[in-house]
Amino acid sequence: ALMPSLEACYNLMDFEAVARQVMKKTAWAYYSSGADDEITMRENHAAFHKIWFRPRILVDVEHIDMSTTMLGTKCSIPFYVTATALGKLGHPEGEVVLTRAAHQHNVVQMIPTLASCSFDEIVDAKQGDQVQWLQLYVNKDREITRKIVQHAEKRGCKGLFITVDAPQLGRREKDMRSKFSDPGSNVQSGGDNIDRSQGAARAISSFIDPALSWKDIPWFKSITNMPIVLKGVQCVEDVLRAVEAGCDGVVLSNHGGRQLETARSGIEVLAEVMPALRERGWEKRIEVFVDGGVRRATDIIKALCLGATGIGIGRPFLYAMSAYGLNGVDRAMQLLKDEMEMNMRLIGATTVAELNPSLIDTRGLLGG
Ligand code: FNR
Repeated sequence: ALMPSLEACYNLMDFEAVARQVMKKTAWAYYSSGADDEITMRENHAAFHKIWFRPRILVDVEHIDMSTTMLGTKCSIPFYVTATALGKLGHPEGEVVLTRAAHQHNVVQMIPTLASCSFDEIVDAKQGDQVQWLQLYVNKDREITRKIVQHAEKRGCKGLFITVDAPQLGRREKDMRSKFSDPGSNVQSGGDNIDRSQGAARAISSFIDPALSWKDIPWFKSITNMPIVLKGVQCVEDVLRAVEAGCDGVVLSNHGGRQLETARSGIEVLAEVMPALRERGWEKRIEVFVDGGVRRATDIIKALCLGATGIGIGRPFLYAMSAYGLNGVDRAMQLLKDEMEMNMRLIGATTVAELNPSLIDTRGLLGG
């Protein structure tokens, strides 16, 4: 089939359609799969359609400022590249392509533990005062984990995102069927006696510690000064507990629908979490991030209206990278920025700080 030109991609879904055609089958299976029947994966995006805007008119919207602060660092726009494993499945250069695009747009990148490039390669690809965070899978051997964390801090990472929704990897059947055979990665999985017939995900994740618990949080605080964020929190009780444990942030996320099937969407959890934090006067004590199914700037704006600090985007940048390399990710980010500027104008908000719950109608989301 003829490869559509990059200029023919007008939104983030267009990159997915091209990637599906041009990617290797195993790579497509790994990136695109969700757990079980992929109900949560679909819901992640669908949930945004249950929120409607209540725009304000006759606001002077000539100048739009989309910049914001996440974990103490200034960013051009409140979305970030979330951690996704195995970048070289989609592009021979892997995660550094995302690093370069993130630099061009002053966007934060979260580096995955299970990157295809080495951690140092991804940090070395950083330019200027570009900001990176580390996503951490906690090893059964805590000395390995300590080294990873302290090395990341030494290399300038500005946040530690501990993944807490994956004590065991979810069942991604598309990925399993494609009978993954070559991760092409540097992953130190602790020996090679792993069963690759279970798909890419299982093959590389056998070191992850299912015994990780709240009791470990003080230890993380003792080994690093990076802000600590729990990635994969899914209900208000755990957000409150994270505040009490002294965490600096949470990501409301279900891992892109790849873990617990029929887990709720991050945006729905956000609508539950923010009022509970405000009720206690705790909304300044923790930064709340959200990811999953974000494909349009309107999705980003809805999350900001609800009170999110930052919004993670995973698959769309992988697809853009796989189909078109750096130019693809660059265009995907530019499209999102353009959409965001236009939609803030149409809503009647000139800064991120002006986005608030009165600009959205969440009855469809919360009413069932
Ligand atoms: C992920 N995600 C993920 N999360 C994590 O904490 N560690 C990881 O190694 C990975 N790997 C990974 C690989 C792939 C291919 C995908 C699609 C996702 C989850 C990721 O950080 C994020 O939660 C979701 O991708 C967000 O959903 P969207 O934007 O992909 O819909």
